[in-house]
Amino acid sequence: MKLFELRKELKNLFSQQSKDITDIDFIISEVLGVSRTELALIENIDESQEQEIIKYAKIKLNSDIPIDKLFKKSYFYGLTFYIDENVLSPRQDSEILVQTALKYIHERNYKTCLDMCTGSGCLAIAIKKNADIKMLATDISNKALNIAKKNAKFNKVDIEFLKSDMFQHIDGKFDLIVCNPPYIASDEIEYLDKEVKNYDPLIALDGGDMGLKFYNDIHNELRKHLTDNGMLILEIGYNQKQPVVSLFNDFNFVESVSDLNGLDRVLVFTK
Ligand SMILES: C[S@@+](CC[C@H](N)C(=O)[O-])C[C@H]1O[C@@H](n2cnc3c(N)ncnc32)[C@H](O)[C@@H]1O
Repeated sequence: MKLFELRKELKNLFSQQSKDITDIDFIISEVLGVSRTELALIENIDESQEQEIIKYAKIKLNSDIPIDKLFKKSYFYGLTFYIDENVLSPRQDSEILVQTALKYIHERNYKTCLDMCTGSGCLAIAIKKNADIKMLATDISNKALNIAKKNAKFNKVDIEFLKSDMFQHIDGKFDLIVCNPPYIASDEIEYLDKEVKNYDPLIALDGGDMGLKFYNDIHNELRKHLTDNGMLILEIGYNQKQPVVSLFNDFNFVESVSDLNGLDRVLVFTK
């Protein structure tokens, strides 16, 4: 069959059901084992490939499963990650945290970094892949840590992993601490999109009262764990800049960085 014909048919079907048509190219690329850019070079597919593509398209049409959870694979900062129901799917918006971290690592010649709440390991791994820095990555979830370890191995980076409830088992000081903690307010969880609510683990989402619990925890211990020239880089929810900046008012607020929609999503503080 001609690939462009199947693609057109699926795009019509997805559009009619208000499904994201970009998922079609994700499915086709995964089934054919080629990158998205290589798709344009393929003219014909065989019967078994067609059936496989249709199988995944049907699953997507009949459920809310996010495309990366369907294939247990996510792409973040140009790298490939294994993911499943035990970790948050890496979000494209979090790439600005990585960019910000790399900017300061290079400007300030940082040598040590802690990624707290590492989940799939996407932040720690993307930073480590692009900087000469000693990296410790922590999470409270054993299942998440196992996935992060697998991803570090796959991406060939050397990272130390540790199970810790926030700073509980973390010793010493770091030049840079990055964290994308759970930050959804507990009473907003039930209103999240099904793709998030049903497929990202609750432990990765629930940020307690007003979504601020983990920022409070970080604030309480931060001074002890930052070197004198050290820096904290946090991801926040789109409406949390003001409360988080107020919470850290005994630190220097350096900048906030916005996402592609112009929303403040990353905050930078120094001691
Ligand atoms: C929002 S996810 C972030 C995952 C990943 N860093 C990312 O950016 O995609 C938050 C992570 O925090 C972890 N977590 C939740 N409570 C924690 C705690 N008390 N101490 C350490 N990690 C915790 C969860 O297991 C989850 O992996």
